[in-house]
Amino acid sequence: MNQIKIAAEALKSGKLVAFPTETVYGLGADATNPEAVSRIFKIKNRPENHPLIVHIGSTDELNDWAIEIPEYAYSLAKKYWPGPMTLILKRSDKIKDFISGGQETVGLRIPNHEIALSLLQEFKKIGSGAIAAPSANKFGKVSPTTYEHVFQELSKDLSNDDLILDGGPSQIGVESTIIDCTKELPKILRPGAISYELINEIIELDSSTTQNQIRVSGSFKSHYAPNAKVLLDQTAQAGDGFIALSDVPTPAGAIRLNSPSNVEEFAKYIYADLRKADELKLKRVVVIQPEGSGLAVALRDRLKKASSQ
Ligand code: TXA
Ligand code: MG
Repeated sequence: MNQIKIAAEALKSGKLVAFPTETVYGLGADATNPEAVSRIFKIKNRPENHPLIVHIGSTDELNDWAIEIPEYAYSLAKKYWPGPMTLILKRSDKIKDFISGGQETVGLRIPNHEIALSLLQEFKKIGSGAIAAPSANKFGKVSPTTYEHVFQELSKDLSNDDLILDGGPSQIGVESTIIDCTKELPKILRPGAISYELINEIIELDSSTTQNQIRVSGSFKSHYAPNAKVLLDQTAQAGDGFIALSDVPTPAGAIRLNSPSNVEEFAKYIYADLRKADELKLKRVVVIQPEGSGLAVALRDRLKKASSQ
């Protein structure tokens, strides 16, 4: 049996499967299995009322998991799925409280990664086809963007029959854009690679969502945080870690962790770079944030949370 078939069988029998997506790695369970889903919460130390995103393999399955889907949600799905976008919709009765945290909504996403899509398709043949998956890290910590990150962080908590699939480094590097689709107009709850501008091409956004002031889902001030203290747009001292676009020179004595040449590269490696700071046991890491719209908005959102104590 190939790895994807084995992984689908594991999900069906209530095991956990960590898998790659284009944003970050997810820790997956059958979204209809309460025991399996409860292990995700335990392993992550995640508060029980914090809802999980449910991953599906095809837009045809939207109606199984959500109801009263507005036309604009179909338009967004058609344009940007598979992709780094999660739609918040009214849940169907197949979505239970242990997924939604008791809310009347569900977050759905079709990820754009060959391994994730094959796994979803295979799991649809033998099981529910819906994989609940948060990012595969401890709650509040840095999201994993490689197999090795997941292994380092979670392997001691996983059982022998759980699996971690290796799909190389995630292409995008920050989590999906979350869009509330339960109102007349869509609203961005968490910025991501499907930017304000890309959404606006399809449908006018709720005007209370401006480009730079986005209400962030989860509403925890500190998140995505390494052990090192993250300082934004400050002068680095000798011994500090330092991350900035390649045209920004390294201050004397600072330890350059990365020099991305554009915003896409910045986002792709930011979590790995923050992990590097911890591996080097640095106390502080200074990040000079990229300016501009699009993906830079998502990157600044994560950095702001990583820097909150
Ligand atoms: O890119 C991603 O979205 C990754 C990959 C694995 O798909 N997943 C991810 O999941 O980032 P997680 O659990 O780390 O973050 C999901 C966020 C949480 O802040 C949660 O509160 C929010 O999505 N969320 C999930 N369901 C929701 C709902 N029904 N209403 C509002 N927010 C929701
Ligand atoms: Mg997360």
